Amino acid sequence: MVNLTDKYGRLHDYLRISLTDRCNLNCIYCNPEYQNFEKLQREDILNYDELIRLVKIFLNYFRIKKIRFTGGEPLERRGVLDFFEMLSRVKRKNNFEFCLTTNGTLLEGSISRLKDLGLNKLNISLDSLNPERYKYITGSDSANSAINSILKAEELKFDELKINVVVIRGINDDEILDFIDFFKDMQTYVRFIEYMPFKNNSWNKNAFLNCSEIKEIIERKYILIEINDNRNQVTRNYNIEGYKGRVGFISPISNHFCGRCNRLRIQSGGSLKLCLFSNGLDDINLKKYIRDMKYNDELIAKMVFDKLQSKEKEHASIDELKTQKENNMISIGG
Ligand code: 5AD
Repeated sequence: MVNLTDKYGRLHDYLRISLTDRCNLNCIYCNPEYQNFEKLQREDILNYDELIRLVKIFLNYFRIKKIRFTGGEPLERRGVLDFFEMLSRVKRKNNFEFCLTTNGTLLEGSISRLKDLGLNKLNISLDSLNPERYKYITGSDSANSAINSILKAEELKFDELKINVVVIRGINDDEILDFIDFFKDMQTYVRFIEYMPFKNNSWNKNAFLNCSEIKEIIERKYILIEINDNRNQVTRNYNIEGYKGRVGFISPISNHFCGRCNRLRIQSGGSLKLCLFSNGLDDINLKKYIRDMKYNDELIAKMVFDKLQSKEKEHASIDELKTQKENNMISIGG
């Protein structure tokens, strides 16, 4: 068992696995051209046995404390609960924090089962509390399903429940205080995320609000008390005086956190992505090795370790990111 440390001394103990590049929503900031987006075919994505093998390789060879499953929308993938069942057996032998990021619209019916399978932490995306606006942002009428899942999640008391809100000027920035009020009595974090540029999304400087602006809007009405939890956090978290709910700010653009990056990503097609913003051209594809009998687990682990050594110190500047052609949020999963 070794630490998965890169050449800048950053320990990578957090793995994010995208289970699918398909999504039942079509958010303006994520994949506005979903219909034209060429999705991977079934044989191109890692199957569940291959995913379990990869998870075991990471857990057996490296010190990994947390694995998060993302999409597209992870619950959109057929048979995903059976996969989580397989995963829970792995977790019983070799514990890790089991986390899921979802849009919550397909979650309500399976949430208790996920809790039973050992899901520890749950992030649910919700960009508007107003169903019509939600529809404008996501193309879907399912605001209420997402909200009901959140309420159910609160009852089930996961180790952590976080609501992700991507703030876009002129679209939902007038709801910042509504979000705080809505979650005031819940044991959740509402996390405001800076709008990031990706391939084909409508990012522009005018639509972008940085986290200090968002914080200022909140501080006009509330007193925020910083929570210093000393973890490898990319979020600045605050208690809100008099409220149970907490608030967090994720500022990948105004204040990038590359120096504290502890994440590695595997995309559904098997690419090992060293950085959210890497252009994808020099990622290695683990599927190729997983499907080749010549590569045993040890060799695959070594390949991951060696590849990590080429991780850049920081991601490119915002001006460069805007022009990226290869990076597509829907197949990265956040
Ligand atoms: N900017 C910021 N956050 C984004 N997400 C998806 N696309 C973007 C973007 N362009 C968020 C989703 C989800 C998380 C996985 O990433 O809202 O909460």
